[in-house]
Amino acid sequence: MKFEKNILCIGAGYVGGPTMAVIALKCPTYRVEVVDIDQDRIDRWNSDKIPIFEPGLDKIVKETRGRNLFFSTRIEKGIKAADIIFVSVNTPTKTFGEGAGMASDLQHWEKTAHKIIESADSDKIIVEKSTLPVRTAEAMERILKAGNRDIKYEVLSNPEFLAEGTAVKDLLEPDRVLIGSHQTEEGKKAAAALVKIYAHWVPKENIITANLWSAELSKLVANAFLAQRISSINAISALCEKTDADVAEISFAVGRDSRIGEKFLRPSIGFGGSCFKKDILNLVYIARGYSLNEVADYWEMVVKMNEYQKSRFVQRIVREMFNTVAGKKIALFGFAFKANTGDTRESPAIFVTQKLVEERAFVTVTDPEALDNARKDLESTMQMAPDLICFEPDPYKAAEDAHAVALLTEWEEYRQLDFEKIYKSMKKPAFIFDGRNILDHKKLYETGFNVYPIGKMQYTHFD
Ligand code: UDX
Ligand code: ADP
Repeated sequence: MKFEKNILCIGAGYVGGPTMAVIALKCPTYRVEVVDIDQDRIDRWNSDKIPIFEPGLDKIVKETRGRNLFFSTRIEKGIKAADIIFVSVNTPTKTFGEGAGMASDLQHWEKTAHKIIESADSDKIIVEKSTLPVRTAEAMERILKAGNRDIKYEVLSNPEFLAEGTAVKDLLEPDRVLIGSHQTEEGKKAAAALVKIYAHWVPKENIITANLWSAELSKLVANAFLAQRISSINAISALCEKTDADVAEISFAVGRDSRIGEKFLRPSIGFGGSCFKKDILNLVYIARGYSLNEVADYWEMVVKMNEYQKSRFVQRIVREMFNTVAGKKIALFGFAFKANTGDTRESPAIFVTQKLVEERAFVTVTDPEALDNARKDLESTMQMAPDLICFEPDPYKAAEDAHAVALLTEWEEYRQLDFEKIYKSMKKPAFIFDGRNILDHKKLYETGFNVYPIGKMQYTHFD
């Protein structure tokens, strides 16, 4: 079959995979190829068990794979054939050198740019899909323009707003699609080509065009605002624990103000995920780069509040369990950074486990999807204290003989557990720390547990 357009995506990760699957689904006349340097990842995309757990994605991949969606490691060939190239490689926070811990590590991006100039033999539209610091497009263009001058590259920014766990829904029904381009004739023409792809399923009024820098910065700002809401409500949860106020009542009352809105006001052990911390630190780094220290400090506080919330959670466990957890078994329910994903990047569970191990507790980790990632995240901790950590897919077994359960991820199945059975199998007094406020606290108390939610009244059987 002759396809109308060839789309290539470099990077078959959490963003590239689902995004391309949905484009392939909605644009059957386009050929979509996803390439990666990681052969194992590509093999998994081509297998029955795709490498990421994302509700609904399996079905779409099965429907489109081999029809107009292809996964391979043939990067050069893909670049040659493509009209539009999405770049969706990882851009983690730099761990070394200038800007370590703050700036984005753009080495994968730069390698990709070089690969494009090496391989391309016709004009290309390059679409930034990874989250990148403002003005990356400019850097990309400099690299591209240093190549063959007969080939024209137009760089667009098309930031991804999908959230993990709801990626398919977010892609199928996005609040908006944002496309940034140079405001030149060629820039606008390239943006129109990208608009055309999304217009297959997204209403035109939800496709926003902007200048390149606004689009890049919007992504950082959107994530900073979302994270700020969580840090704000988490800050209030600490105050609630000292007073008679209930954070759920506050979220409800405050969220009913239509100017504020009800979403992202759920208190937690702290936000995780690959984007929030990274993007805010990026924003902070950029602001400092312009000597805007107050701006930088303002946003940095959102991250600091998140660190505080994680520490507070562990300190509370230790304090309430009579100031020591040494030699006690603690079952962690959930390791993913949120429900409906196996992703554990920046998951607060990593910090919680490491701190509990430092306190010499025996930690048993359970999670329906994230145990493989948890094992990798805890590799160095396990080397230091191999006897203190174990992994158990069955939550009932994880809780057997435990002194405490700490719920870290809001998996729906944890709501449905038989907590009477769990209580009976645990050591007494039995403690439960609900880091997501999803359980029925009064009922747990009546079962016999000492119950510690976030920012709400605790229920204990102690005087
Ligand atoms: C986020 C943005 O939502 C998305 O638009 C962007 O493209 C990538 O970053 P993601 O990290 O996948 O998506 O998940 P999100 O649902 O935003 O949750 C992030 C973290 O905040 C999770 O750890 C979640 O548990 C936590 N959270 C979220 C809360 O603690 N409370 C809330 O009310 C909402
Ligand atoms: P994200 O959450 O941004 O999608 P991931 O880490 O899930 O990030 O995915 C990024 C993917 O990009 C990984 O599968 C990685 O192997 C791939 N990648 C990194 N560098 C390159 C490169 N130079 N060429 C092709 N793929 C790359």
